[in-house]
Amino acid sequence: MRGCRHGELPQVVSPVQPTEEVQQRPGEPLLTLHNGRKRYGSVVALDGVDLTIRANRVLALVGDNGAGKSTLVKGLAGTGPMDAGEITMPGRAVTIRTPAEAAALGIETVYQDLALCDNLSVVANLYLGRELRRPRPWRLLARARMQAQAGEVIRDLAVHLPDLDRPVAALSGWGSRIVLLDEPTAALGVEQTAMVHRLVRRLRDRGLGVVLISHNLSDVFAVADEIAVLRLGRNAGTFRPGKDSVDAVVAAITGGNVVPGASLA
Ligand SMILES: Nc1ncnc2c1ncn2[C@@H]1O[C@H](COP(=O)(O)OP(=O)(O)OP(=O)(O)O)[C@@H](O)[C@H]1O
Ligand SMILES: [Mg+2]
Repeated sequence: MRGCRHGELPQVVSPVQPTEEVQQRPGEPLLTLHNGRKRYGSVVALDGVDLTIRANRVLALVGDNGAGKSTLVKGLAGTGPMDAGEITMPGRAVTIRTPAEAAALGIETVYQDLALCDNLSVVANLYLGRELRRPRPWRLLARARMQAQAGEVIRDLAVHLPDLDRPVAALSGWGSRIVLLDEPTAALGVEQTAMVHRLVRRLRDRGLGVVLISHNLSDVFAVADEIAVLRLGRNAGTFRPGKDSVDAVVAAITGGNVVPGASLA
């Protein structure tokens, strides 16, 4: 990581090299799940799910309520281990039974190192290159406003940082490779949602694999490189924004046919 100054966009050295790990090239698998299974009593929440999380890519996970999205993420985060399934990370099979095991593998459900510039605070990183300023003539940084707004976003992401003004380098947790976000924008307004999108792209550009659960297909098409659909606990297709239509994704979510123009209100 490198130091930056306010008002300066970092020249991203991507992907940044975690010291002790071999960095995967963009698009290469960071984690592969095969045949993931999970039951809650008689409810089959995951029924043979496959998933590949790739370096330098945002994978959106979509599906109707109860499709199994959160169950899948909890399985990979170690907060709700799966009953079965083979998980592979570069070169080896792994097990994820606890959040500590997930963290040791570089999987973060919430994350401490949100940023690229480790000498700046989390707030400064969120606003890098687009700092809020007070009205003329002085154009001073509107620190309080930035801090308040960033604080809201971070709270909604369930990231609990001890001090938003501490430089990112002082926070632990460097070495994450995968970030799992379950509905980070569900309760956010337009501006805050845009902020989360920027954050997601920044994490991706740093070489991480980002998994983003969202019900909002506009969000998903705006930020995802790949879209995996779950339906009733099973894979229901993978799609690419720019190549596949929203209608096709909606059809996969609902199990219906593609009805052009009938998707987004
Ligand atoms: N702790 C639990 N106990 C019993 N059943 C559960 C539990 N958690 C989830 N389920 C069930 O497992 C299935 C998958 O739920 P899950 O929360 O993974 O869906 P989801 O895709 O995240 O849905 P949503 O979009 O509503 O968040 C559902 O049928 C749900 O009712
Ligand atoms: Mg859920």
